[in-house]
Amino acid sequence: MTMTTQLSHIHRFVPGRDTKRPPLLLLHGTGGDENDLIGLGELVAPGSALISPRGKVLENGMPRFFRRLSEGVFDEEDLRRRAAELAGFIAEAREAYGLAAPVALGFSNGANIAAALLLLHPQALAGAALLRPMTPLRSAPAANLEGKPVLMLSGAADPIVPAADAGTLAALLRERGAAVRHETLPTGHGLTQADVQQAKAWLAGL
Ligand code: MLT
Repeated sequence: MTMTTQLSHIHRFVPGRDTKRPPLLLLHGTGGDENDLIGLGELVAPGSALISPRGKVLENGMPRFFRRLSEGVFDEEDLRRRAAELAGFIAEAREAYGLAAPVALGFSNGANIAAALLLLHPQALAGAALLRPMTPLRSAPAANLEGKPVLMLSGAADPIVPAADAGTLAALLRERGAAVRHETLPTGHGLTQADVQQAKAWLAGL
């Protein structure tokens, strides 16, 4: 069953069947939408409530969660504004659907806005699984992420995210106290079965 209440982001909501599991906030990649990651969410967190917003920025007609100037070069002013909007949406959705703080599951652009949420609005998320993330902000505030669980899955042959950049993000999150597990998989930017297995095992351990 999917329900959609009028909130500040177009979204899909799938009610949870297992109240012990945290809700998942699904954040799609460039050109995706609120439908994209529902199947992945059901695979990696069976029984979790799923809340899946659509990014509000359009790049040549493709939804994203914030503007970029070119591939890998972000409009950080827009990113900060969009992260604040998304934090507001999470608060609305929690109220509307009666949810605990969600764990983000974000891919690519969705992983990058999730990383920005952790750094700028740490209270919005209970944790995050970041699939092919990069460092979203050149100068990040001193957020308190003490004990927040974060999974980062990078691709060794990712043409979009340099390995050093993913390493910088892992270090930033660890410096702020997050419990980061960072794995580099033998793959590119696209997701594989290994991502599904790793994300599922990590989420089951929360
Ligand atoms: C981004 O713009 O967030 C990253 O370059 C990943 C992408 O969406 O291609």
